[in-house]
Amino acid sequence: MKDGSDAPTPIPSLPGHFRHSISSLLRHASRLANRGVGGIAIFPCIESSLLTKDGRAGLDPAGLIPRALRALKKELPDLPVFADVALDPYTSHGHDGVLDKSGRDVDNDATLGLLAKQAAVLGGAGADFIAPSDMMDGRIAVIRSALDSAGFTSTGILSYAAKFASSFYGPFRDAVGSAQAAGTRSLDKRTYQADPANQRAILRDALLDEQEGADALMVKPAGPCLDILRDLREATRLPLAAYQVSGEYAQIHAAAQKGWLDLKKARDETLLSIRRAGADIIFTYFAQDF
Ligand code: PBG
Repeated sequence: MKDGSDAPTPIPSLPGHFRHSISSLLRHASRLANRGVGGIAIFPCIESSLLTKDGRAGLDPAGLIPRALRALKKELPDLPVFADVALDPYTSHGHDGVLDKSGRDVDNDATLGLLAKQAAVLGGAGADFIAPSDMMDGRIAVIRSALDSAGFTSTGILSYAAKFASSFYGPFRDAVGSAQAAGTRSLDKRTYQADPANQRAILRDALLDEQEGADALMVKPAGPCLDILRDLREATRLPLAAYQVSGEYAQIHAAAQKGWLDLKKARDETLLSIRRAGADIIFTYFAQDF
């Protein structure tokens, strides 16, 4: 998403996807709903002049995403909307939280209160689900309590419960502008995102999110983590989501452009595998075509 009323701008590393203004989003979302897409997740790309160290633009009730949510809920009340909680589209350094005194690492506990406020703002604007993607420890509990005390007891939480520090997020970071802010697509988030080599830690963390009140758990990236999806399927009765992330989409497109892969067959095979591994819900950039 972007501010203003201009035509949608293409995102080169996500072929077929655009930064929408609110009015073009409404048209696009209605097409998606008509095609049977079960819900949408929206992400902002705000003016670079609004990026700050503490990402405060993400807490603004009059910000781009809250305005988009209100418009969506007015025009298409039955289309479920997932709103990400994390500060990276709003920070000048591209991290998901505020930094500690060293300026190198994210300050987990100082970030929690900001995420709770952001969640209450998004709940107030009508998000059906809050989707915390920040990976701070303890965030589900503070977000649940912030939503409840603001009166949004029926706003759900889809937790990015098992989210790895992955090299597959690059095109997303182009799309929201955090790659440009950080000066790299491969900002190192390993102090808060999970270590892909440690599957027991990720399962333990995911189950903590359940205890803290998550309504559904998400695994990400999907394709490289089918084992985690299967393990989690066996460890929880909550609905499970898997996010086929931007890099998974981009690599299939790039190979297909070169004639090295059949786009549709590769797409369908990856989605089928994600389903087979146990996902009830799939977040995918292929949704509009599939
Ligand atoms: C950030 C966020 C990321 C994605 C969703 N929310 C990227 C990151 O952690 O840097 C990635 C989605 C994708 O690659 O499609 N909070």
